[in-house]
Amino acid sequence: MSHSEYPYFRGRRLRAGENIRKMVAEHALSVNDFIAPLFVMEGKNQKAEIPSMPGYYRFTLDLLLKEVEEISKLGIPSVLLFAKVPDDKKDNEGTEALNPDGLMQRSVRAIKKEFPELVVMTDVALDPYSSYGHDGIVKSGQIINDESAELLARMAVSHAEAGADFVAPSDMMDGRVIIIRQFLEDARFHNTGIMAYSAKYASSYYGPFRDALDSAPGFGDKKTYQMDPANIKEAIKEAISDESEGADIIMVKPGLPYLDVVRAVKESVNVPVSVYNVSGEYAMIKAAAEKGWLNEEHAMMEALIAFKRAGADLIATYFAKDAARLL
Ligand code: PBG
Repeated sequence: MSHSEYPYFRGRRLRAGENIRKMVAEHALSVNDFIAPLFVMEGKNQKAEIPSMPGYYRFTLDLLLKEVEEISKLGIPSVLLFAKVPDDKKDNEGTEALNPDGLMQRSVRAIKKEFPELVVMTDVALDPYSSYGHDGIVKSGQIINDESAELLARMAVSHAEAGADFVAPSDMMDGRVIIIRQFLEDARFHNTGIMAYSAKYASSYYGPFRDALDSAPGFGDKKTYQMDPANIKEAIKEAISDESEGADIIMVKPGLPYLDVVRAVKESVNVPVSVYNVSGEYAMIKAAAEKGWLNEEHAMMEALIAFKRAGADLIATYFAKDAARLL
């Protein structure tokens, strides 16, 4: 070789065409990875677009069932339900959260009846039901832990009774996974799973979601229970702790700003890891695309493959339907 100093390695050989690129791709997205979040509201025959989440809707239960049909026809295996609770049903005791005929419980029953194979997950936290907009019970300006955890465990049982396959505690109270597991076992819901939001950060990226459910905290913020964005060791500790308390799936949330946390948690636990590509991440791509500042489809697929590269097994995303159509 006359140019022995010139590189023998040429990375471009494996990038030369579509087929070779596909052959050497290290990660792939599958529709099986997706969990589609859904917002349900009271009423009939209505859907309301969430202003800060263009193209995403709250549905009344009748229309939600049509949405679920579309989702399951696309091959998406799972939905994660959130209920919008009318103001006059909010209090500090989570009364409506435990109502066997509450919107969440009715929705779960209706979905499981029509789509028995679909994996139905429910959000377990008090904020949509709380007159204070907090995830637990408030006393003297504090979000109290142990009473909240027990209430959430009763809420989880109520969702299991309605037919939920997984309950997803998103509240960040200490010890709630073990108490939920105990309550589920005592009620003989041995097969109801727990997807724990183990590393959930106090994030500004939840803003559009709080618009969707009208669930912004009425006072203060959530920093005494949700994690400090500066921390990662703490996330690993939370994840290991939730795994030992019986969590079947461990979640990291938000997604894109926390890919390092997804990786670290993936390497620390031996259960599947999910990531929540949250409302603010959706809103950023949508807003930039509306302005013509970036290509929505490309930005979406790039974000989703980044979650796989970081080690996520499952992705809760408002892009589930759009991405499933492209796959
Ligand atoms: C409620 C809950 C929140 C999200 C999921 N469950 C909001 C919050 O903690 O304030 C956020 C989801 C999203 O932003 O897409 N505990």
